[in-house]
Amino acid sequence: MSSEQIPLAKPVLGEEEERAVVEVLRSGRLSLGPKLGEFERRFAELTGARHASAVSSGTAGLHLGLRAVGVQDGDEVVTSPFSFVASANAVVFERARPVFADIDPVTLDLDPQAAAAAVTERTRALLPVHIFGYPPDMEALDAVAERHGLGIVEDACEALGARYADGSDVGSRENPAVFAFYANKQLTTGEGGMVTTGSAEVKERIDSERNQGRAPDMDWLDHDRLGFNYRLSDIACALGIAQLGRLAEMLDGRRRVAALYRDALAGVDGLALPCEERGQLRRGWFVFVAQLPPGCDRDETVRALAARGVQSKPYLPAIHLMSFYRERFGHREGEFPVCEDVAARSIALPFFPEMSEGLIERVASELRAVLAGAPA
Ligand SMILES: Cc1ncc(COP(=O)(O)O)c(C=O)c1O
Repeated sequence: MSSEQIPLAKPVLGEEEERAVVEVLRSGRLSLGPKLGEFERRFAELTGARHASAVSSGTAGLHLGLRAVGVQDGDEVVTSPFSFVASANAVVFERARPVFADIDPVTLDLDPQAAAAAVTERTRALLPVHIFGYPPDMEALDAVAERHGLGIVEDACEALGARYADGSDVGSRENPAVFAFYANKQLTTGEGGMVTTGSAEVKERIDSERNQGRAPDMDWLDHDRLGFNYRLSDIACALGIAQLGRLAEMLDGRRRVAALYRDALAGVDGLALPCEERGQLRRGWFVFVAQLPPGCDRDETVRALAARGVQSKPYLPAIHLMSFYRERFGHREGEFPVCEDVAARSIALPFFPEMSEGLIERVASELRAVLAGAPA
């Protein structure tokens, strides 16, 4: 295996981030300090949300978002099986059941018709995922939610910078939308997340539940509801604020890399590239995931690319076929054929804002060679 691997992801961090973090360390206010509110205000402004609550991870945000729309023990939440496992796990945290529905073969997001068909009298909410940063069909999902009186929580963990089909920013709707700031995301705080919402009550509930159930006007150790420690430290918030300062540039970088990949991989026989944006909809570019030609051995492709110095990853595996979900909920192959086919063929390629054209071309030519069956 070549020692110099082209990595899958690489955060953009500079002196601004260093300065911001050191400033917090010197201030001595490491958590629940002024950076928390500043990060939330700036994030809300950026996404056009009325409110934003910073939390310790995207997963924590999903958990609190689901609680905020009333998901409880015994409820069902209709969601996508083609997602990072956290979106389904957050439902299980509340002893509710994630009910999967198949995905659209083009956008790879939850198919609204399949979602509608999965609704029962126990369904409390829809949890659509903006997979690979591509917004789902919210108009159709809204219609399903309205027809059955359901809440919506958007998993926008991969979708910072995206726009819905009507051209508005992802995160600007009334329902909770959840973002994530792990190191491979468009913006990173190391670990972290944000929930945006149009509702002041939802914001208040999330702020309380992320902090052990403490109400804002209560004495230090008085707690009037069950809560968690899902706080985001001021160190992380300061990092997030510094990252916001370079976000436009980083998003442009990702868009540029995606366009170059599209050119470099055009015409590779049987390789399906990420779907194009339609109308005013914009993808928040997070990863570059292609689908290998049917019948191609994906694991072998990943190994062969690694031998040529290119990191890649099977991304994403279907959630319902993971052992925990098989055992707990009795899932099996064949339930969601579109998801299963896509999950078996998807491969994430190196993708980060500062990727040079030369590097992109190298990845593309190594992938071409591997698919053509060239020896390593
Ligand atoms: C679609 C999706 N949902 C949820 C999460 C969870 O975010 P975190 O890792 O910050 O908990 C991620 C992050 O990888 C994600 O990609």
